[in-house]
Amino acid sequence: MKNVDVEKHVRGDSLFIDDIRTPEGTLHAYVYSSPVAHAKIKNLDITGAKEYTGVVDVLTVNDIPGENEVGVIIQDEMLLAEDVVDFIGQSIALVIAETKETAKRAAKKIKFEYEDLEVITDPREAFKKGSLIQPAKIFSSGDVDAEWERCDHVFTGRVDSGGQEHIYLETQGAFAVPCEGGKIKIYSSTQSPTSVQRVTAKILDLPMHQIEVDVLRLGGAFGGKEDQATHWAALAALGTHKLNRPVKLVLSRMDDIKMTGKRHPYSSDFKIGLSNEGKILAYEVTFYQNAGASADLSPAILERTLFHVTNSYSIPNVKATGISCRTNLPPNTAFRGFGGPQAMFVIESAIYEAASKMEMSADKIQKMNLIDNGEKFYYGQSIENAQAINSWNRAESKYELGKINNDADQFNKLNDRYKKGVSLMPICFGISFTSSFLNQASALVHVYSDGSVGISTAAVEMGQGVNAKLREISAKIFAINIEKIKTETTNTTRVANTSATAASSGADLNGNAVILACENILARLKSVIIDKLNIPESSEIEIIDERIFVDKKPTKLYWNELIQSAYFNRISLTSQAYYSTPDIHFDREKNQGHPFAYHVFGTAIITVTLDCLLGIYETDSVKIVHDFGNSLQPKID
Ligand code: HPA
Ligand code: CA
Repeated sequence: MKNVDVEKHVRGDSLFIDDIRTPEGTLHAYVYSSPVAHAKIKNLDITGAKEYTGVVDVLTVNDIPGENEVGVIIQDEMLLAEDVVDFIGQSIALVIAETKETAKRAAKKIKFEYEDLEVITDPREAFKKGSLIQPAKIFSSGDVDAEWERCDHVFTGRVDSGGQEHIYLETQGAFAVPCEGGKIKIYSSTQSPTSVQRVTAKILDLPMHQIEVDVLRLGGAFGGKEDQATHWAALAALGTHKLNRPVKLVLSRMDDIKMTGKRHPYSSDFKIGLSNEGKILAYEVTFYQNAGASADLSPAILERTLFHVTNSYSIPNVKATGISCRTNLPPNTAFRGFGGPQAMFVIESAIYEAASKMEMSADKIQKMNLIDNGEKFYYGQSIENAQAINSWNRAESKYELGKINNDADQFNKLNDRYKKGVSLMPICFGISFTSSFLNQASALVHVYSDGSVGISTAAVEMGQGVNAKLREISAKIFAINIEKIKTETTNTTRVANTSATAASSGADLNGNAVILACENILARLKSVIIDKLNIPESSEIEIIDERIFVDKKPTKLYWNELIQSAYFNRISLTSQAYYSTPDIHFDREKNQGHPFAYHVFGTAIITVTLDCLLGIYETDSVKIVHDFGNSLQPKID
């Protein structure tokens, strides 16, 4: 696979935050965090740490020149605790020393006196006590209340899904470097360089142009660095701002797990109504989202939950209520699927409940209710390219579902202690940020005078291969060897006002911007070709393997010489381009609209072996058919 990074990764040559060669004078920071889940701060004594040999400074909330605020959707999250701590691991002070070890040892000298407050960790309890992030949100269509009477069967139940730690390979971290005139350059392991820039500027009370954020690559993120990389970057920058020295802050794995948010655990209630045949006629669901101590991305994640309540099914009457509950846990955050999986888990559980009570197989109910073209999702978007049925049928035939089921039945007849279970799971996921304004990207493409190409976009490489895709796109448009093309770091000075690389949209959005920028340059090159070869404007010009063809015939002109000519003729070899997803909108009053550019569909067949004595299970296999349209890079996808 021609992924540029592969060789460097294997050799250990790829640079992550902790590998950046630090200049002389670099300081190292350690976060002193709350040992308790909810308490009033009575006294914070940092003198012991400040006097520790090798410590340069210990920063608290009093050192923040701007706003002590990192929340992006709701302004409810502090960079450093003020009067109260709301979760174990909440940042209280930043110890800055000559070495990382010194900073860590000195932090033990901090004296923290507090008065315990009531701790809530359960979202239903938070709801009962009125501890909410925002008022409840309701999406609905049809009339569930009128429909229950017409159903032959109605079942109710409760479903809980747990949290999950991201375990990105590279822990959270940032390195801040002072530049001339108080400007700070931050190397951050973030999916969202602009968020880091905007929030840090606010915290330091500086204009955004004084903060430059640069991202080479992340050692994985999985949503964990969409919003939660900002905190550490802002802390490092705060140190640099105060001390005018480079400051590095990289969390240890244990601190990362303790201090950062996870996938949101949900506790949900469902009610499902079906006909005798298994048609789902009505579905009502209430989600209690465990948001943790502050909003972070919880409102957006809850909204995506509401978009995905019916998964791949067409259901005429639906009512879904989402309640984001404030608890004393680290703020939970984006994690692959962004609230979608939590919703899908509930409808699938409801179907399994119905199937067992109706003595039908669950996959019969699933298959019968799959959404098809011409139907609408309950939030109003009509469906144009449904692949739910196709992917289901492909999975059934490709993996021989009949045989899988027979094998499991055979096994179960012969074994008492161990039993096999087979389940099918369709998925449907809406592609686009649900906040429509985020669906924008830009690209800056330079063709250098030697014919090599540099591409800058808003996309962040985190192992998903987006850089390989962007190179592929540009190589195709210019028809040049991909080795000539380099993707540059993601940098807020080169590409501004970026959206996070998230929502499965990085290659879509930034790839489209790259197409536009390359096409701009190509159009200019075509006029250079017309002049240079002295051919009519109407000629059909093509570049094939770096060679210029006119009216399908090869010429003596090649890419490198063409670029040289353009340069000497003072033709710009640079283009900036902007792309925004067309035709998406969503009315937040009516909760209806067309929020997604398209949907993706897939079906998985999962086989597990259950140990009936111990109650534990192992996954034997997960077989997936997933539609991803025309892949930009089949090997990566
Ligand atoms: N918004 C932000 N981040 C995301 C989304 C979204 O809709 N989906 C997945 N990550
Ligand atoms: Ca984490």
